Amino acid sequence: MEKVFKNRRIFELNVVDSTNSYASELPPGMPEGSIVWALNQIKGRGQGNNRWESEPGKNLTFSIILYPTFLKAADQFYISKVISLAVADLLALFADRVSIKWPNDIYVGDKKIAGIIIENSVEISNIKQSIVGIGINLNQKIFSSDAPNPLSLAQITGKDYDLKEMLEKLCDLIEYRYRFIKDNDFQTIDNDYVSVLYRFNESANYLADGKAFKARIIEVEPSGVLVVRDNNGIIRKFLHKEVEYVR
Ligand code: BTN
Repeated sequence: MEKVFKNRRIFELNVVDSTNSYASELPPGMPEGSIVWALNQIKGRGQGNNRWESEPGKNLTFSIILYPTFLKAADQFYISKVISLAVADLLALFADRVSIKWPNDIYVGDKKIAGIIIENSVEISNIKQSIVGIGINLNQKIFSSDAPNPLSLAQITGKDYDLKEMLEKLCDLIEYRYRFIKDNDFQTIDNDYVSVLYRFNESANYLADGKAFKARIIEVEPSGVLVVRDNNGIIRKFLHKEVEYVR
């Protein structure tokens, strides 16, 4: 099958502020699928204003450049779905109980093993470019940050992982998942996303507007909005950060 990411380039850096920032400053026209990979990020960025903690040389921290120009801006959540599925695919090769916590955190059991940030630029009504930053905890054994529930693959399996090998495997999986939306098969991605969604259709505790409630996740809309049915049968919808998962 013909490669989607032909001629992609790989920038391998020892140290950088953030691979996402570096990728955004590259000259325009980098081949699709090009990668900025760093062993050490001084200012690794997490979601919102958070920092991404990663011990130098221990984990995968990289960004990939995509041009999903076939996607309407309103459908940009498909990038999240595709990337989180690819990361979940990779981790499921080595661990059980891998899931995607909406919108795009990767969990093993009740702990976070990988995070994703997606920075899109939009032209007219379509996506022009997407810089996808991925951090996967592989070999780190001790976490010092305030992140509530970090976990690494080595903590689960007791083994160490070769970063370059894992990066190459993941790139193949991203290419595999990305092809579906490029070929207009959104249904497969929708089905697969929901099938590995953390707490999907389980009664669980949530917090919104300072109030706790019990609910089941029943859907994630194409726009990325989370839809739950609470214990009173009321349907409630949330954007990212509007609802907190309570353990
Ligand atoms: C999260 O908070 O869950 C998102 C974490 C994303 C971290 C990755 S590491 C590589 C890329 N460069 C960054 O500065 N952040 C992302």
